[in-house]
Amino acid sequence: MKRALFISAWLLTSVFSSTAEQGRPFELVVIRDPDSLQCTHVALQQIPRFRGLPDEGYFKTKPLDTGEERVQYVTRDRDLAWARAESLCGPKEEWDFQVLVQDELAIAARSGQQLNQVVFGTTTLSAHDSAAPSHVDIPPLEIEPLITSGDSSNRVDLVFFADGYTRDEKGKFIEDALRLAEDISGNQTFYTVKPLLNFWAAFTPSKESGIGSGGKPKKTPFGLYRDGTELRAVYYSKPEVARAACFSLGDQCDYPILMGNDPLYGGLGGEFTVITPSLANGALVLRHELGHSVIEVGEEYDGGFAYFGVNAAHNRTLADIPWAHWLTNASSHSHAEDDDDMSARPARVERSVMPMQAYPWTLLNTSATWSTTFNSSGTYAWHLVRFSLSGLPEKDDLRVELDGKDLGWAPRKDIGVDRWHYDIKLNRTLEDGEHEVRFVLKNKRREGEAQLCSVEVLEFGDESEFVSTPGHYSLYPAFSDKNETSYRPTNEDCLMRIVTTPNFCKACTEGLWYALLLRVDLIEDLQPGCEQDDSGNWLRTLELSVVPLAHLRDSPVDVEESYTITWMKNGHVVRDFTNKTILVDEGDAVGSYVAHVQYATEEVRVDKESLLTSTVASFVSTTCGA
Ligand SMILES: *[C@@H]1O[C@H](CO)[C@@H](O)[C@H](O)[C@H]1NC(C)=O
Ligand SMILES: *[C@@H]1O[C@H](CO)[C@@H](O)[C@H](O)[C@H]1NC(C)=O
Ligand SMILES: *[C@@H]1O[C@H](CO)[C@@H](O)[C@H](O)[C@H]1NC(C)=O
Ligand SMILES: *[C@@H]1O[C@H](CO)[C@@H](O)[C@H](O)[C@H]1NC(C)=O
Ligand SMILES: *[C@@H]1O[C@H](CO)[C@@H](O)[C@H](O)[C@H]1NC(C)=O
Ligand SMILES: *[C@@H]1O[C@H](CO)[C@@H](O)[C@H](O)[C@H]1NC(C)=O
Ligand SMILES: *[C@@H]1O[C@H](CO)[C@@H](O)[C@H](O)[C@H]1NC(C)=O
Ligand SMILES: *[C@@H]1O[C@H](CO)[C@@H](O)[C@H](O)[C@H]1NC(C)=O
Repeated sequence: MKRALFISAWLLTSVFSSTAEQGRPFELVVIRDPDSLQCTHVALQQIPRFRGLPDEGYFKTKPLDTGEERVQYVTRDRDLAWARAESLCGPKEEWDFQVLVQDELAIAARSGQQLNQVVFGTTTLSAHDSAAPSHVDIPPLEIEPLITSGDSSNRVDLVFFADGYTRDEKGKFIEDALRLAEDISGNQTFYTVKPLLNFWAAFTPSKESGIGSGGKPKKTPFGLYRDGTELRAVYYSKPEVARAACFSLGDQCDYPILMGNDPLYGGLGGEFTVITPSLANGALVLRHELGHSVIEVGEEYDGGFAYFGVNAAHNRTLADIPWAHWLTNASSHSHAEDDDDMSARPARVERSVMPMQAYPWTLLNTSATWSTTFNSSGTYAWHLVRFSLSGLPEKDDLRVELDGKDLGWAPRKDIGVDRWHYDIKLNRTLEDGEHEVRFVLKNKRREGEAQLCSVEVLEFGDESEFVSTPGHYSLYPAFSDKNETSYRPTNEDCLMRIVTTPNFCKACTEGLWYALLLRVDLIEDLQPGCEQDDSGNWLRTLELSVVPLAHLRDSPVDVEESYTITWMKNGHVVRDFTNKTILVDEGDAVGSYVAHVQYATEEVRVDKESLLTSTVASFVSTTCGA
């Protein structure tokens, strides 16, 4: 009884603060230069929900690969959103960049949208009235579902956009997109959160096939290109078209993915995820970049410029470590001295150092070897030479040396000329003093294509100083491009560090649930209904639809999870229907019904914002059969 009362009081507050009652919040997105504060883009649209939205709104700034920053502001108040836009970009009258605002007609047209093929014609988005008219044509988009799990109003939607695929290559585009979507959600990476996601393909025919090179885009919708011919980043030349295309899809486009029709490595993260369908690298780049944009985390690998989010710590104070609740051996992080505050004490750090790191992105030639020297302190038990290469399909094409000794490099099987990552572990101490790493191109025919992309040397303490075991959670140093140290949760468990690994670490996976559950409510609907039993008596039914997780999944996953469903009628728990998705009452029953849903998964240990719970109420005022 005591318990029922407690739930009842709790339910009242949560029902009335539920976002569904308060209409769609506004989301403002601003792209600007962090130094000059010059804005290049403003978009304002209504989004289906933002759970746990604080009264003052939600404000977040993050750095993009392009050097720009992306500012996001979510609020219930449209005027506040505009005021914020002006405080970020200056008076509206002076704006001379792209401004995207949803108009009422577009919202009305979308609300009847079904989960099947929708074809948008070429239309123009209206710029905000007082802004300079910066119109841009939305390319024609032929939308096809790849993997869908529910209506876009309660899902996070990822959309592949086509670049460099001609009309005749539409089939190839759909195949490429489906292969990548299945790779990252079938049995790994995003597989446990798949019921919260939709993947779509949005085809636009290109006039020319493939992506540009030498800094010159081809005739394609988003103008993707490489700077030179070598395998490196793939840039976009028409961001305003990509923004308008995604914006025109409304709720159906949360994360745009621009896919360039090129068989080899390439990509870029940030405002758009840019990828190629490379067999070796497509999925690898896609999941890493989605990690950045969906979970909102920075790098875990060395040499990056931004380390932030649930997988990054900047000091050793236990209370400031986002994954403190995942630490494998919490006791080793707090050598107890009885009466002081454990959470304020510095945590253990796994001992390693990065004596050398470079991103040469250089073409190799036989006339001169690429080499570099570095100093070791001679105090570490073992070391690792880590590098990535492209254009080198054969073992005899290249020799990699450390202090004149051949490290025995061999290409990954079937890699061809595509890029790949290599680790050579050397279980001995690097001596105190200077060392040299050399890349010797042996095959002259590879000149012009053979490329050294990145190289790094790391040194590690012995097993008592550096635990390298998979699944061990501790503080592992990561070194930025400026050799600043931050900490990450695992040695090599996470694809944010080891891009060839297909999964996130537990801290990132938990962050993924948080990020998705801000935008997805576990409860889809509560429908009152009536039905007759065998003897013709009327029965009142309340049918609850929830996102198909736990025992409601189409295909089970190998993690522990459960739904607990609690029903209440007029403030009292109806025990007989606990855990059932339908409640059956007498036909003449009227009153209030409440369903409370608690999802539990071993992938989430801490749920400060109560994102894994949801509550819905329905007031029934008429009787059945009346
Ligand atoms: C997922 O499936 C792919 C392709 O069948 C396979 O290579 C991979 O090892 C599987 N991953 C897991 C975690 O089972
Ligand atoms: C430690 O780092 C966290 C973020 O990782 C930061 O919030 C906190 O202020 C830092 N504390 C100190 C003492 O520098
Ligand atoms: C946990 O850490 C303590 C203190 O460092 C150590 O004595 C113990 O062996 C560790 N246990 C495991 C399972 O690693
Ligand atoms: C980074 O700093 C550490 C010491 O703080 C030093 O031992 C190491 O050599 C530096 N690495 C590079 C690449 O400068
Ligand atoms: C050959 O490679 C070396 C080392 O990267 C470089 O300095 C040189 O300019 C290259 N020469 C040619 C002809 O490309
Ligand atoms: C290594 O250390 C020696 C002695 O301090 C110094 O002369 C040399 O320049 C260092 N080498 C590098 C690559 O930093
Ligand atoms: C290095 O070799 C020792 C002795 O064989 C072994 O115990 C240790 O695990 C090895 N370390 C690594 C990182 O492979
Ligand atoms: C409801 O489901 C939860 C989670 O599986 C379980 O712990 C609980 O015992 C169930 N309650 C009843 C009454 O079946």
